[in-house]
Amino acid sequence: MSKVTQIAHPLILHKLAFIRDKNTGSKDFRDLVEEVAMLMAYEVTRDLQTEEVEIETPICTTKCKMLAGKKLAIVPILRAGLGMVDGMLKLIPAAKVGHIGMYRDEETLQPVEYFCKLPQDISERYIIVTDPMLATGGSAIDAIDALKKRGANNIRLMCLISSPEGVKAVMNAHPDVDIYVGSVDEKLNENGYIVPGLGDAGDRLFGTK
Ligand code: PRP
Ligand code: URA
Repeated sequence: MSKVTQIAHPLILHKLAFIRDKNTGSKDFRDLVEEVAMLMAYEVTRDLQTEEVEIETPICTTKCKMLAGKKLAIVPILRAGLGMVDGMLKLIPAAKVGHIGMYRDEETLQPVEYFCKLPQDISERYIIVTDPMLATGGSAIDAIDALKKRGANNIRLMCLISSPEGVKAVMNAHPDVDIYVGSVDEKLNENGYIVPGLGDAGDRLFGTK
């Protein structure tokens, strides 16, 4: 069964409040999404394996810990997931980045895949899928399906804001995928938007509306 972690750190909550504010413009919105993604990356990577290495300090030789095991890949769901990549790369600069393009058909609310380009060794990587919004869960479920079809087997999902319905849907569809969110909001409205949410993440990031 998926583990769901709400990362309710005071800095994340504070920044999410600005992100939700309809008066926050695209530049600040982008900066804040990047900052929250960086803070969340700290928690999402908490259980990465380490190994002991020997290091020479200017004073003596000592044993230290460094990352070991699987390498990472960050896979943003286009478009809005892109806004989280740079913040994560600040913490994990060696991660590779794959891209998966999904849009939600505005009438049916069904996700449509239009692009997928992944690191060629995706099956050997520990994957963090990013999307600011987990609403009905359709986009995340289909994106994860697409990744699994291409060999991915160690996947986590990281979203800024989620709905209870979306979290449940991903848990049911992909019980092997752990979910990390900044907030589980109240509900979805009749248009499939998260309430209170932040509106349309892609449009706010890229100024398209
Ligand atoms: C938004 C968001 C998610 C999806 C969530 O993307 O970034 O990918 O909706 O909704 P769901 O959980 O109901 O599938 P959108 O389809 O608006 O595309 P965009 O990122 O290109 O704006
Ligand atoms: N996509 C968004 O960008 N926002 C929502 O609230 C739901 C889906």
